[in-house]
Amino acid sequence: MNGATRAILLGAPGCGKGTQAKRLQDVLKAPHLSTGDMLREARKAGTELGRRAAGFMDRGDLVPDDLVIAMVQERLARPDCEGGYILDGFPRTVAQAEALDRAGVVIEAVVDITVGEDEVVRRITGRRSCPSCGRVYHVEFAPSRDGTHCDACGTALVQRPDDQEATVRERLRVYHQKTAPLAEYYRAKGLLKSVEGDGGPDAVFARIMAALGHAAGGPAR
Ligand code: AP5
Repeated sequence: MNGATRAILLGAPGCGKGTQAKRLQDVLKAPHLSTGDMLREARKAGTELGRRAAGFMDRGDLVPDDLVIAMVQERLARPDCEGGYILDGFPRTVAQAEALDRAGVVIEAVVDITVGEDEVVRRITGRRSCPSCGRVYHVEFAPSRDGTHCDACGTALVQRPDDQEATVRERLRVYHQKTAPLAEYYRAKGLLKSVEGDGGPDAVFARIMAALGHAAGGPAR
């Protein structure tokens, strides 16, 4: 039996959704759809959506549902999503999940990556990313070769403005209030797979692949 490729990655800010979604994209050949990345790109491009999202993101709050839902529906309608997709950071509220259901979007599995709060703060505050190619590093757990520049393109690494500790605490508060209830929403539909996010990225990836019904080396045939 083939494993799931129409999947959602749930979990607290910094639990490792983006890190794992990129790996899943490579192995399962399904696009990684990160609403955080899409919103940051919209800001960089100076679009109306980016301007409207900016204040919410900088405060650590969620961007209003209607803006994010329209953005994701447009993205899911593109041809590269026909064979599957890895949704990272969406849905993040029950209203967003209900919008997916109403639109008839097929979801085969929802992976909730669970990590303790002190560990996610450590992961996020140590994160550095490349403003040019988007590659993500960690000062302690996944440093670039010289510690300050991207291994892939040589650009100086930066810290995301919302990765300062005070904003991270607010993002975690918002997560518990608005996003954590989604675990129950998907448990009730029989789709939820809880995966321990402790340990290195390889160990977490193997657990996610098993939860999705794939062998760790690649998709089930
Ligand atoms: P978004 O970019 O989605 O932020 P997030 O959910 O807070 O998640 P992060 O990107 O911070 O973390 P991650 O789980 O991807 O972890 P990562 O793999 O990078 O959203 C940003 C903002 O956009 C939101 O606050 C909101 O304003 C808005 N937004 C986005 N979607 C929205 C929506 N649907 N509705 C409304 N608003 C929305 O890992 C973190 C670090 O840890 C990295 O440095 C990595 O190298 C390291 N790491 C990863 N795994 C491990 C491991 N196993 N061991 C050690 N280190 C690890």
